[in-house]
Formats: sequence, C-alpha cells, structure tokens
Amino acid sequence: MSVKKRNGGNAIDTSTVNPSEVVITTKHGKMTLDQLAEIQPGLGTVMVEYGKRFYRMKVAAEEGNWDLANYQLKEAREIQEVGETTRPANAEKLKNFENNYLDPIEKAIEAKDWNAFEKAYNDAIAGCNGCHAATGHAYIKYELPSTPPDLPAVGPTQ
Ligand code: HEC
Repeated sequence: MSVKKRNGGNAIDTSTVNPSEVVITTKHGKMTLDQLAEIQPGLGTVMVEYGKRFYRMKVAAEEGNWDLANYQLKEAREIQEVGETTRPANAEKLKNFENNYLDPIEKAIEAKDWNAFEKAYNDAIAGCNGCHAATGHAYIKYELPSTPPDLPAVGPTQ
C-alpha cells in the first residue's frame, strides 16, 4: 500500500489506497477495509427494518402515542440514511422520498393530527411502492401486516 503524506501531515491520498490491502485490527481479529465495506447493510437489509418501523409508527399514532410515533419516524429516517450511504446509486431517490413523504408525516405527528397523519402515511406507502417499481422491484408491494407489531408496547403514555 502506498500512502502519500502532504506537507508532513497525516493526509492520505485515498486514490492510491486499495481497500482490499488495508488491514484493520478489531477486538475479534483482522479484516480488510474492503470486507468492512462489504458487510455494511444494503437496501435489502435496510428495507426490512424500514418496513417494521413504518408499521410501528402507524400503530403508535393510532394508539395516540405520538412520542413513540415520532421515535419510530426518527429511527426510520436513520436507517434509510444508512441506505443512502451504502447504496449511493439510490441516494437521490431516497432523499426525495424523505422530503416528499416523511416531512409531511413529521408535521402531522408534531400537530398530533390523526387525519393529516393518515393521509400523509397512505401517500408515503404509494411512494414506497413507486420507488420499488422505479428500481425494477415492482413485485415488492409494501402492505401493512395483519398482525400487531411485536415490540415495543405502543399504548398511550399520557
Ligand atoms: C430508493 C427507492 C426506495 C424507497 C423510497 C423505498 N424502497 Fe423499499 N426497497 C427498495 C429496493 C431497491 C428494494 C430491494 C432491495 C434490494 O435490491 O436489495 C426494496 C425492498 C423493500 C422491502 C423488501 C425487503 C425484503 O427483502 O423482504 C420492503 C419491505 C420495503 N422495501 C419497504 C419499504 C417501505 C416501507 C418504504 C417506504 C417507507 C420503502 N421500502 C421505500 C427501494 C426503495
């Protein structure tokens, strides 16, 4: 591996670094940067969590637990942002989805407005499936499960 130092500083010219040759030591052993990148969750993994959080958010809102709905929305944003980093080819679509569909949901949660929430939520689901179709996955149609979400408890807190 060749690493260039500029002006005696620690700057690394990454264009000369081959990630399969950079070995890092973790408490479990050694791995290359390439391997580290490879084990980051892609959209398939991200989406499983996304779908679960999206459902929990709705049930929390239905139960009037707006704080929990807000928490699930924040976590949903975080996991979708992981996808934006690990799959930059879809980052723009994901960002647009956030702006067009998650922002209105957030407003409705802040206002504790069920009618606005339900509309924004249903619009978002159409947006989810629109992106599935646009990315060649028209066969993935997100629908709400018929069984209650597992964790956490969703009853109203106040
Ligand atoms: C970038 C556009 C995009 C958006 C927006 C999007 N998805 Fe996805 N989703 C994908 C792609 C691409 C896949 C297939 C994953 C793969 O190719 O690895 C997928 C797969 C899925 C899956 C199947 C996961 C599995 O493997 O069982 C679910 C569930 C899912 N998405 C839910 C959602 C939900 C819910 C939303 C909206 C809140 C959403 N998606 C928004 C692109 C998107």
